[in-house]
Amino acid sequence: MALRKIVTKEDPILKKKCRPVEKFDDRLHMLLDDMAETMYAADGVGLAAPQVGMLRRAVVMDIGEGLLELVNPEIIERKGEQCAEEGCLSIPGEYYETIRPAYVKVKAQDRNGEWHEYEGEELKARCFCHELDHLDGVLFTERLNPNPTPKEERKTAEEE
Ligand code: NI
Repeated sequence: MALRKIVTKEDPILKKKCRPVEKFDDRLHMLLDDMAETMYAADGVGLAAPQVGMLRRAVVMDIGEGLLELVNPEIIERKGEQCAEEGCLSIPGEYYETIRPAYVKVKAQDRNGEWHEYEGEELKARCFCHELDHLDGVLFTERLNPNPTPKEERKTAEEE
């Protein structure tokens, strides 16, 4: 395993749409291993492949419930709305209130190509949406609350 460099918001790669993963081979496994190591080293709860310079539809996440690897993920259901402060390892030090669904259901392949479904609310729903957006070249700064809550009423920030 190896740490990879996390690209920051000036890098045009973060605005590009990622290609589906077609081969579930050693190269994919190495990418996922490196992404997890890089995410943990940066104290993040999620990391998408374009953030390490790879235009592939792959994400790693750990909101404290263990590592999730999502390959070719898609949101198949969403409900409600939530608003909380969000951050991004590619936009260090900036936290803004972001609008997300309250609940999402995601389907994704694992590192061997098997399909699974995942559900999430609160931080988990936000993390799914934030990381999946990265695969379409969308940063959280495009999803901001147009009427931010006063600072003292805000929930605490999470790095994603
Ligand atoms: Ni991010």
